[in-house]
Amino acid sequence: MNDAVNRSSTAVKSVVQVRHASSSAQDALMNSSQSPVGAALSLTNVEYRYAGNRAGDGQPAGLGPLTLSIQPGEFVCVVGPSGSGKSTLLGLLSGFLKPQQGQMTLSGRELSGPVPELTLVQQEHALFPWLTVLGNVGFGLKTRHLSRQEQERRALAALKQVGLEEYAPRRIHQLSGGQRQRVSLARALAVQPSLLLLDEPFSALDVTTRHQLGEELLGIWLTQGSTVLFVTHNLDEALSLGQRVVALRGGQLALDAPAQDLTLQDLKASLESA
Ligand SMILES: Nc1ncnc2c1ncn2[C@@H]1O[C@H](COP(=O)(O)OP(=O)(O)O)[C@@H](O)[C@H]1O
Ligand SMILES: [Mg+2]
Repeated sequence: MNDAVNRSSTAVKSVVQVRHASSSAQDALMNSSQSPVGAALSLTNVEYRYAGNRAGDGQPAGLGPLTLSIQPGEFVCVVGPSGSGKSTLLGLLSGFLKPQQGQMTLSGRELSGPVPELTLVQQEHALFPWLTVLGNVGFGLKTRHLSRQEQERRALAALKQVGLEEYAPRRIHQLSGGQRQRVSLARALAVQPSLLLLDEPFSALDVTTRHQLGEELLGIWLTQGSTVLFVTHNLDEALSLGQRVVALRGGQLALDAPAQDLTLQDLKASLESA
């Protein structure tokens, strides 16, 4: 690892330590009317199978049955090899897929389709090339019954959180990959989600930019108080960012533990063992 990466991961760890130690600060945030309150998430025996697609064991591929409970304001990393069900999990939570079995609740209310307090950031930016950076970030606010001024104020505030406010009038093609991913993050933050879902958001980026964005995400999480579910296949990233790591293998829960209790070897072993 080079120096920049080492420094970056040390900084990330120190932010995490602050976060682990700062439950009273978190309580204060939760009570602040400025910040969205992180949502509690609960899945009970949730199952989804893709019709016609058989996994190696002859079972239809998919996820579950999965039971998982996430506390308000937690930062949980989800890891697992390719095909282990990570994106399926986020698809179910964001309402793109409907579970065939089981129940999901968000802050105690049944989750059975898309809801505005939950946003998803994906690896591909899915930004609109015909809109400006500000237009992209404000896009999700259009349906929220807010005045144009308020939409613009929130979009600018979200852009500021990711350090791109001076890029507001630019077009997407004028931005680097890292900047585009910041815009995607700002678009998700603009709607002040109580649950932020991220599906391998930084995996297309170089290692230094990936660490920088991870650090920024932790800083934003500290001030915003949202619950975060961060999917990555990078085990180091999961251990350095998450308070808790959930590992999936073949659509099943392979491990669920506080990050501080885990080593890289533990994680690797949980994913390898049959
Ligand atoms: N649209 C789909 N149609 C059929 N099978 C799918 C589809 N999407 C995913 N799968 C299968 O479901 C399993 C879980 O996929 P996915 O959730 O995308 O895994 P991950 O995100 O962990 O790589 C895999 O076996 C995959 O092949
Ligand atoms: Mg995936």
